[in-house]
Amino acid sequence: MHPDGHVSWFLNGKLNVCENCVDRWAEETPDRIALIWEGDDPSHSKRITYRDLHTQVCKFANMLKRLGVRKHDTVGIYMPMIPETVYAMLACARLGAIHSVVFAGFSSHSLRDRLDDAHCKVVITADQGVRGGKVIPLKSVMDEALKECPLVEKCIVFKHQGHDIDWTEGRDEAMRPYCPLEPMDNEDLLFMLYTSGSTGKPKGIAHSSAGYLLYAAMTHKYVFDYHPGDVHACVADVGWITGHSYVVYGPLCNGATTVLFESVPTYPDPARYWHMIEKHGISQFYTAPTAIRALMVHGDEWVSKHDLSSLRVLGTVGEPINPEAWRWYYEVVGRKRCDIVDTYWQTETGGHLLTPLPGAIRCKPGSATRPFFGVEPVVLDSKTGQPLEGDDVSGVLCIKKPWPGMMRTVYGDHERLLNVYLRPYKGFYHTGDGAVRDKDGYYWITGRVDDTINVSGHRLGSAEIEHALVQHPGCAEAAVVGFPHSVKGAGLFCYVTMNNEYEVNEGTVNELRDIVRKEIGPIATPDHILIVPALPKTRSGKIMRRLLRKIASNDTGSLGDVSTLADQQVVSDLINAAQKLF
Ligand code: WT7
Repeated sequence: MHPDGHVSWFLNGKLNVCENCVDRWAEETPDRIALIWEGDDPSHSKRITYRDLHTQVCKFANMLKRLGVRKHDTVGIYMPMIPETVYAMLACARLGAIHSVVFAGFSSHSLRDRLDDAHCKVVITADQGVRGGKVIPLKSVMDEALKECPLVEKCIVFKHQGHDIDWTEGRDEAMRPYCPLEPMDNEDLLFMLYTSGSTGKPKGIAHSSAGYLLYAAMTHKYVFDYHPGDVHACVADVGWITGHSYVVYGPLCNGATTVLFESVPTYPDPARYWHMIEKHGISQFYTAPTAIRALMVHGDEWVSKHDLSSLRVLGTVGEPINPEAWRWYYEVVGRKRCDIVDTYWQTETGGHLLTPLPGAIRCKPGSATRPFFGVEPVVLDSKTGQPLEGDDVSGVLCIKKPWPGMMRTVYGDHERLLNVYLRPYKGFYHTGDGAVRDKDGYYWITGRVDDTINVSGHRLGSAEIEHALVQHPGCAEAAVVGFPHSVKGAGLFCYVTMNNEYEVNEGTVNELRDIVRKEIGPIATPDHILIVPALPKTRSGKIMRRLLRKIASNDTGSLGDVSTLADQQVVSDLINAAQKLF
């Protein structure tokens, strides 16, 4: 691994990602379906051919161009899961503009911070989104964000629901065929996507054009055993890397038919996925363990009454899958004839790092098994930083050599790439995860080793949530930790102290919860908020998160070494307070 993070693939090569994903298929197989859109309402769906995709992307690109979008500009996208979102991403790629998709569940504050950090001059949104029958007022959230984004000059609004919305003349443009392709260098950035770290504001993880596209396409082909004619369904939102790599870029680069799912797994009922698989003849289905766990509790009947014979490969991503959920997926959904791929990777990695290959790697439920082609994982001793040789070892998971899909920089802050990923263990890329390599050389992810928390497969930074909590006028200090949650994987447990003069009342906890929802978004809604007299700190003033995690997990039998604690009484106060919640 180069110490300065210099990575390039296809040096001096030229390409256009949109040409690879759209134009060549529009020429070779114009009538093949590129996108199947499955709307929130199960009676709404649309099929878009490669020919149509080409026309729509060109129109969109021309509109962007008319608004002044040029090569290397950044464009913010805040959209629901609809075909226009894919047109917008590909239109940016066509012009050589860097897109920054912000998940439509983020609040106006999170949106503002991301648009601002990315220096977006043009943003794209929709009037409204709808998920599980619930309306998401995207345009008004965008309006709120734009009040504090002086750089944004144009806001394109797609009328998805066709409702009346507020309109700012001059800034907001309505939608209205061929657009030439911009030749791009191999290393030109294709997009950035924000992700949380243990400290500071979210990082704009920036990906390249040639290497990223190769990696997304190659992993899509081999990990899902893709063959022409397959209908590939990754039900992730395009607001996350999974949607970028396995809804849009990987499948389209391979000329596949890819499904865009607008809804949620339980709407209108817990058979939604299975109904959709039968309806569209889906061959590969890719979801998160949290969704599997949420559906398992409704019983097998919802699944068994559907014809799922089109399925061949079932994938999971986002967090380790517990063996019970794995077996249910394998037996009830896959009827013991589909391969399961538990894919371990990150926003930063662009595509899968550790994963089985269907039919080629024997699975162990709960293990992401072995590295993908070209990936060289190492398990390091966390104290010495030395690689642990041989099998049956446990430590920190790092990667030895670059791979094509690796992130190229943190947008606007290359130092951060070095500090977070390349400097902690010299010569290696640090994943931030702990791992075991078992006696057979299989990898098991043991969880994050930093202060990030994986809630329903989404990484949240404890620092961000703490920052939101202290926005409350009465809040003095906050510490947020994860605790095991039966559906979400991890839940959020927030400890807060209030200012002495502040009078806590019945509404305080709700106010604190609302502040987090407003500052970050509903995905970060705390499960528990505990107002406590003091936080456990070391004599040097560091919050002892290890203790807070134990108390939040109701695992107070052995608290470990507490001798460095400044005030021992604090711990028993916390345990007593927490007991009331369990
Ligand atoms: C973190 C990355 C990659 C898209 C979804 C999340 C955890 C991801 C697995 C898996 C165990 C996993 C890791 C990783 N993770 N997949 N199959 N087994 N853990 O992307 O938000 O960038 O989060 O998710 O902790 O570091 P992300």
